[in-house]
Amino acid sequence: MAKKRDQARIGSILDDDAEQWLQAEFKDAVRFGEPMSAHTSFHIGGPADAWVEPESLDQLKGLVRWSRKKEIAYMVVGGGTNMLVADEGLRGLVISMNRLTEPLEWAQDQDRLRLTAAAGVPTRRLCALALRHGWRGMNFAVGIPGLLGGAVCMNAGTGGRQMADVLDAVLVVTGRGRERRLERHALGFDYRRMTWPRDMIADTAGAPIVVRADIELAMGQGHRLRNQAREMLRTRARTQPIGDRCAGSFFKNPSRETPAGRLIDEAGLKGASVGDAQVSPHHANFIINRGRATAADVLRLKALVEETVWNRFGIRLEPEVRIVGQSQDA
Ligand code: EPU
Repeated sequence: MAKKRDQARIGSILDDDAEQWLQAEFKDAVRFGEPMSAHTSFHIGGPADAWVEPESLDQLKGLVRWSRKKEIAYMVVGGGTNMLVADEGLRGLVISMNRLTEPLEWAQDQDRLRLTAAAGVPTRRLCALALRHGWRGMNFAVGIPGLLGGAVCMNAGTGGRQMADVLDAVLVVTGRGRERRLERHALGFDYRRMTWPRDMIADTAGAPIVVRADIELAMGQGHRLRNQAREMLRTRARTQPIGDRCAGSFFKNPSRETPAGRLIDEAGLKGASVGDAQVSPHHANFIINRGRATAADVLRLKALVEETVWNRFGIRLEPEVRIVGQSQDA
């Protein structure tokens, strides 16, 4: 008998065979028609055809190989703290890294410290660990939400410091479902951007997935690091709309001298809104969801901000937030 599909699953590219395979393989770790609004800090986003949470590297590799064979696209999500998902949701597989939290281990060599952590480990857990042991190098990430894998892939940072400064190597699962270790120098890093080696970009298989990172830290003074971290969190709480539904800074800073927040503020856009999407009255480079904002609302507000800043200053803003899925209003 044909399976009845609920509303959220209409339009799914997964056929019954694919759903059955996923169900048998992942049991309670797969959900069909899963609303992405439940997995993003914006609390916005339509249904994913399948939301899958692999529990081991082998399971992840098997899933990638299967999706390649079946020609089903996949997308990888870390903490969902830096993304805007379309109201139409996401077709194919959305692979969540949140159950891949092993290993988390470290080794000390004199005053140097090598930390190896899985992509699903929350960044704040690494910061807390470093503070507890008095390891220096990780404090720039204090207050950055999300998971380590996402922080590596977007070269997350604050002030002048970023993930690339502490990264030594990554372990990835390639689009062919194989493990590959990449040293720091094989990767390209830029402001909020990481690029894969050329041969990986040229590969037509699915995108590589960061599954583990080696981080190099140094021994420091615990009390000084803790004081510094406390101060950073205090500044963040004073200047940013902590607790609001948002995805962090919405636009990249065009340059150090011209931060997006100042441009948007000076263009008079603080508090501007489309539907329930609003330019935060607290910090102009944050777009917040006041309750029922849709991705379409956010995209219209984004266009208004871009146009106003362009007309006023002749500067093109570029989103820092990852915008995924197709939206008719994009
Ligand atoms: N500003 C205004 N009006 C505003 C907001 C900011 O005039 O409404 C001015 C501030 O006075 C300041 C300048 O703009 O002179 C920069 O603002 P802020 O110090 O708040 O830093 P930011 O450049 O907006 C960056 C990162 C944040 C990070 C902070 C602290 C980007 C796009 N954002 O913000 O990262 O937390 O520095 O280090 O680089 C994120 O990436 O999601 C994020 C939150």
